[in-house]
Amino acid sequence: MSAALEVEQVTKLYPASAGRSGGGVHAASFTIAEGELFTLLGPSGCGKTTTLRAIAGLEVPDHGRIVIGGGEVFNRATGRNVALHERELGMVFQSYAIWPHMSVFENAAYPLRVSRTRRYSRTEIRTKTNEVLERVGLSAFASRPATQLSGGQQQRLALARALARAPRLLLLDEPLSNLDAQLREQMRVELKRLQRETGVTAVYVTHDQAEALAISDRIAVMRDGRIAQIGKPKEIYDCPNSEFVANFVGRSNLLRGVLTGPVARGESATVRTAAGDLQCLFGETASAGSDVSVLVRPENIAITKAANGNSGNCLTGRVLRETYLGEAVEYLVSAAGTEFIVRSLSLGIASGEEVRLVFSPHHALALRH
Ligand SMILES: Nc1ncnc2c1ncn2[C@@H]1O[C@H](COP(=O)(O)OP(=O)(O)OP(=O)(O)O)[C@@H](O)[C@H]1O
Ligand SMILES: [Mg+2]
Repeated sequence: MSAALEVEQVTKLYPASAGRSGGGVHAASFTIAEGELFTLLGPSGCGKTTTLRAIAGLEVPDHGRIVIGGGEVFNRATGRNVALHERELGMVFQSYAIWPHMSVFENAAYPLRVSRTRRYSRTEIRTKTNEVLERVGLSAFASRPATQLSGGQQQRLALARALARAPRLLLLDEPLSNLDAQLREQMRVELKRLQRETGVTAVYVTHDQAEALAISDRIAVMRDGRIAQIGKPKEIYDCPNSEFVANFVGRSNLLRGVLTGPVARGESATVRTAAGDLQCLFGETASAGSDVSVLVRPENIAITKAANGNSGNCLTGRVLRETYLGEAVEYLVSAAGTEFIVRSLSLGIASGEEVRLVFSPHHALALRH
């Protein structure tokens, strides 16, 4: 089976101009399987929208090749550039882009009415539109003016419209960012369900790491126009390949240190840090003397009052601040001149108390600089 999308070395660079520092995307490469939900995640300006627009055919890349469903749609070297409407895509953007002068039904039916790749009969248009409105839960609103829908409903309508023609690829650029926090969480569950049910391959753009972790099959983390890491949500969270990815996805404690002896990929070794010697896991082979950052996630540190015999890495510290979060407590602990964030379920430790911080070598990941 061919891949749903192949992006090869796609580059689109904008020169710096008045008021803009320039940027774009540089040599982005990734392959997406049929039915996958693939997310481009990264801070503002890292090149997510540029990448998506290149896939859509809204930008002409300076370099590279793009293949959709086995068919080449762009190749800089040969000059091949298939037009946007022939790429058979569905798109949803941040702004709803609902046509206010049309009913809900007419909005969803529009792509079928104007399709240039295939003619649809009236009956087909009615059936397909009703089907897709049913899918997004808007059947009851079909005859209403689109402007009478709430923000969440308008975004659902935008999705219905994007899905009406059963596109080869669904491209979504921050589709939920105009919604309030609660609705956003609700909609991301719904969006994931819809994507699963329809089996459509999707490229999803967001700068929200929690959203990316929750809905993606795989994530590409981007930084300054380049892809920093590609992996499943758990791989990205548990085994980031850099300080940047560790900090951008989830919360991190990072300690600078130096490796005391050589280590092979997947093994643990001693790292000398300001907080003493720590046993750390290495995702890559490294030589003695290498500068590393040790990553420990806040939920992987156990906090205790007692000085009982602990195994693993153990530090003595003092609680600077405790924050009650409802489902957990977050402690800020000063240990060996460093401040650690610790997430814990147990209560009963107060600010000013002396504590031990314990974490296994398995949860102390050494990242090369
Ligand atoms: N048409 C353009 N002309 C000049 N520079 C541009 C143009 N479009 C994008 N850029 C620059 O390219 C870089 C990447 O922009 P892009 O819109 O792809 O970022 P993004 O990751 O989508 O960011 P955001 O999260 O803010 O939407 C930015 O520095 C931006 O200023
Ligand atoms: Mg963008």
